[in-house]
Amino acid sequence: MDTYIVNGGEKLYGKVQAQGAKNAVLPLLAASILTDEQVKIRGVPQITDVENMLRILRELGCTIKRRGENTLIDSANAISHEIPARLTKELRSSVFMLGSVLTRFRKARISYPGGCDIGLRPIDLHLSGLKRLGVRINEVGGFIECSADKLVGADILLDFPSVGATENIILAAVKAEGLTVIRNAAKEPEIVDLQNFLNAMGAKVQGAGGGTVVVEGVKRLHGVEYTPIGDRIEIGTYLIATAMCGGEIETNGVPPENIAALLHKLRENGCKIHTKNDKIVLQSCASLRAVDLVETMPFPGFPTDLQAQYSALCCTASGTSLIVENLFETRYKFAAELKRMGADITVRDRTAVIRGVKRLHGAKIVAGDLRGGAALVLAALAAEGQSQVLDLSHVDRGYADFEYKLKKLGAKIRRVRV
Ligand code: UD1
Repeated sequence: MDTYIVNGGEKLYGKVQAQGAKNAVLPLLAASILTDEQVKIRGVPQITDVENMLRILRELGCTIKRRGENTLIDSANAISHEIPARLTKELRSSVFMLGSVLTRFRKARISYPGGCDIGLRPIDLHLSGLKRLGVRINEVGGFIECSADKLVGADILLDFPSVGATENIILAAVKAEGLTVIRNAAKEPEIVDLQNFLNAMGAKVQGAGGGTVVVEGVKRLHGVEYTPIGDRIEIGTYLIATAMCGGEIETNGVPPENIAALLHKLRENGCKIHTKNDKIVLQSCASLRAVDLVETMPFPGFPTDLQAQYSALCCTASGTSLIVENLFETRYKFAAELKRMGADITVRDRTAVIRGVKRLHGAKIVAGDLRGGAALVLAALAAEGQSQVLDLSHVDRGYADFEYKLKKLGAKIRRVRV
């Protein structure tokens, strides 16, 4: 099992370039089978979620060539509409494959998806949206079997602006007959990126980022070369790390408006932040102040994927912070590990009350999910003494070169196999 050994207490100084956004790249990879021409995606991060998505594409019959972060997908010979169950369990985002596999083959079979254990994560909105486009759905023995004689555009109102459901419906609608309107659509920057990618392939998608997405079905899509947006969650993680450890960081590749909610809170905590284009500079402050309330919300609200890292910051901010997790039911598993480091946290249902302590101390802790794991790494970097962060399999799902980038900033962190 891979483990980080962290000697805490070092300030962080330097620059970080954003990796390609995990949550943008995964749907783009799913979308690549919408054409039988070649698709080239640059800046594809080397993380296990991406490797698993590429494995799924290979099992469908696609040829993948990977040179560093450049990825070439050729799905001319794709033949299978069955998304392999063992890979679906590893990767929840494999559910996006439903929309694109349906568009390609008029049928799709998938087992119930996996991913982080952070709550129930139902897919009812995905399925009801697909039904509205004319898809028949059978759920048998843990598998979802979908088929459609043809996909026909429809007016769809989502009960909740689900990121995955919005993307899945777009992917099923791009070549459907007529017009699809998705109301109460998710507004995340990754949806806008999917729209730009599809339009570069010849699709007609409009409105992403604004809450109503309109898709006019086209007959065919062609190959494309594309660079996805930078990872706002990754960059947010490094900004929080610097605020916690002290120091000064410059990040590049994520426009400030994509993580405005975090920047707003970090300023309230006392950090100085300057921005220009897609550059963000954060200078830490001598002592962080607690902010009263942070509630996770769909974009442009505070992202649930930064809740754990921000909760780690609150552990040493002076005063009491109240965190409310509105998106996922069980996203505080990391809190028990932070307590082993001396944090004062009380969790009840979706709320955490965090009373700031002067300093955390090193401990042996287990990273149980992707963002919770990142939060523990940040806590270990800021703590007094040595920590061991056990089981990096979840962190590796989302952060490329994590320890390398942190070391370049001055952190004392190394990966060992125990
Ligand atoms: C995506 C992101 C994930 C992020 C989340 C919320 C990817 C690969 N993952 O996940 O990192 O944490 O957005 O920003 O992009 N829901 C339903 N029924 C559904 C679908 C969702 O009730 O059919 C609920 C979920 O249980 C959850 C909420 O909607 O409470 C948000 O989920 P959603 O926006 O769909 O997140 P994901 O697409 O799974």
